[in-house]
Amino acid sequence: MISLKNISKHYTDYAALQNVNLTFNKGEFITLLGASGCGKTTLLNIIGGFETFDTGEIRIENQTFAKQTKPSACIKIFQDYALLPWLNVLENVKFALQAQGVKECESLAKEYLKIVHLETFSTRFPAQLSGGQKQRVALARALCVQPKILLLDEPFSALDNFTRNALQNELLEIKQHLKTTMIFVTHDIEEAIYLGDRVVILKPNPGEVVADIEVRVDKSDRNSLEFLRLKREIAEYLETYRFVQDYSI
Ligand SMILES: Nc1ncnc2c1ncn2[C@@H]1O[C@H](COP(=O)(O)OP(=O)(O)O)[C@@H](O)[C@H]1O
Ligand SMILES: [Mg+2]
Repeated sequence: MISLKNISKHYTDYAALQNVNLTFNKGEFITLLGASGCGKTTLLNIIGGFETFDTGEIRIENQTFAKQTKPSACIKIFQDYALLPWLNVLENVKFALQAQGVKECESLAKEYLKIVHLETFSTRFPAQLSGGQKQRVALARALCVQPKILLLDEPFSALDNFTRNALQNELLEIKQHLKTTMIFVTHDIEEAIYLGDRVVILKPNPGEVVADIEVRVDKSDRNSLEFLRLKREIAEYLETYRFVQDYSI
């Protein structure tokens, strides 16, 4: 569904990404893992068309792009929710639908609030919500326009462990239900394994893919031997390619 061929991106003389080759299948959940500064956000922005790239080409469904993509099918979710504070929960979701010219937005917005279990919170304002609830509104808002690809940039990293685990499970349920292709950036190894059908590991300076691992472990027990073994394998990659601070760049 999405294929990246020899994608490189430089900021002045710094190689944020170098010769990245990746293929994402329809309905797949990919987690991107790597040290800070290895180009995860850059890669997400390039796929979403929010940023240009220097060389290579990207194919999304039947379209091929050079320099910059224009996939209307992509929606991005951020760590800081990006909700509109002057609109209540329902209005925040409706706003996204109205922006796409959808007419029946009230009922559709309610349907998606139900999917994220927030139907009883529709008249609350963002300031009256917990972090987990805010991120669920952001999810409803992103999903209601039925994106083919959902890009998530460390969406749960500001949440406590308990809330984070709950949202991870909700996201997996949503994936089962809606079959949306998801590309999820995290720096948490356990989260990457738990959510991902595949874990793609990047290294910094220059940003390159060092591993692309299909996750076959049983997800029901995060402390099973096979789960912990995979965690260690990935940790070893990250240790090998850990960020080397270079203050000259
Ligand atoms: N607009 C920019 N101008 C210059 N350098 C940038 C810019 N955006 C990102 N970078 C650099 O590119 C590298 C990759 O950044 P980023 O994609 O944000 O990494 P990550 O999300 O993995 O932490 C970093 O070294 C960062 O400093
Ligand atoms: Mg980032």
